[in-house]
Amino acid sequence: SPSDPDLVERARAAKERLGDKVFVLGHHYQRDEVIQFADVTGDSFKLARDAAARPEAEYIVFCGVHFMAESADILTGDDQKVVLPDLAAGCSMADMATAEQVAECWDVLTEAGIAEQVVPVSYMNSSADIKAFTGKHGGTICTSSNAKRALDWAFEQGEKVLFLPDQHLGRNTAVRDMGMSLEDCVLYNPHKPNGGLTAEELRNAKMILWRGHCSVHGRFSIDSVDDVRERIPGVRVLVHPECKHEVVAAADEVGSTEYIIKALDAAPAGSKWAIGTELNLVRRLANAHPDKEIVFLDKTVCFCSTMNRIDLPHLVWTLESLAEGNLVNRIEVDRETEQFAKQALERMLALP
Ligand code: 13P
Ligand code: SF4
Repeated sequence: SPSDPDLVERARAAKERLGDKVFVLGHHYQRDEVIQFADVTGDSFKLARDAAARPEAEYIVFCGVHFMAESADILTGDDQKVVLPDLAAGCSMADMATAEQVAECWDVLTEAGIAEQVVPVSYMNSSADIKAFTGKHGGTICTSSNAKRALDWAFEQGEKVLFLPDQHLGRNTAVRDMGMSLEDCVLYNPHKPNGGLTAEELRNAKMILWRGHCSVHGRFSIDSVDDVRERIPGVRVLVHPECKHEVVAAADEVGSTEYIIKALDAAPAGSKWAIGTELNLVRRLANAHPDKEIVFLDKTVCFCSTMNRIDLPHLVWTLESLAEGNLVNRIEVDRETEQFAKQALERMLALP
């Protein structure tokens, strides 16, 4: 949708008043009306790395979802304030693993006699509590752009990995990139006693996958892939690794949002692509590459509703409040959680 010119002007004016005091980060799934005001855009890895790039900025306005703002708070200085323009911008996947559930899972692994062999690897898309759990137990964070490197590292530290909370990224990376089989992976269901697994199943597994998923990427199906191949002969199917395993197996290429952007930049004119990721990004890519045919993989629209909560009115309100000296919507992780979560995040940032 075209942005309201008054709001665009107000956002511009407020940002100008704030000058170097504000640093605006924008995830690739954000709306165009918001992304136009981002100083830096990126996937979740790039944004975690770049969050600390402006130590002189008093305010970091994070146009993305809650777990990203928490990570930015953990990785930036104590005097820098991270702000999320709408506090209701959560992530349903991150909510699928709570601190209590994960503590209970660790007890189950301990009882099965395997906890010492297990290294936790947690997807960036998780709460600060889960990142702290990961740090405390010697594990690392990963994103969709470094999941293989994170797993390589983890399997140097131990024999098994507990992968949280996205079963699909875990399974896809293990099977597609690490040569494991589907039988090496078991699914831990936090809503069942003992995760729904026997001690023997746990002892035989290499990858213990948490039963979480992304509701946006989970909607792509084999039918969407078959349909688009029929509709557009010669199309290349490029999907995010949060998609289901069978969709990833049927795709031509798989990668994070940053990977998808680079692949399309490098693609020859006239090439045809069906993209399996969030719709704001796919539309922006289609507009940026009029010489290529770029379509959304599914027939129905598929925004991430929580990413979309950050809209221009919320951004204007945030920037104007900050410009008037009103600190609104601050995301602040408590010190103890921060300390352990930071260890896990720093292990990720140090991966080769
Ligand atoms: P990336 O930005 O790492 O590709 O992850 C996609 C996503 O779902 C973010 O919430
Ligand atoms: Fe969470 Fe999926 Fe939205 Fe990413 S796209 S923020 S994983 S619900």
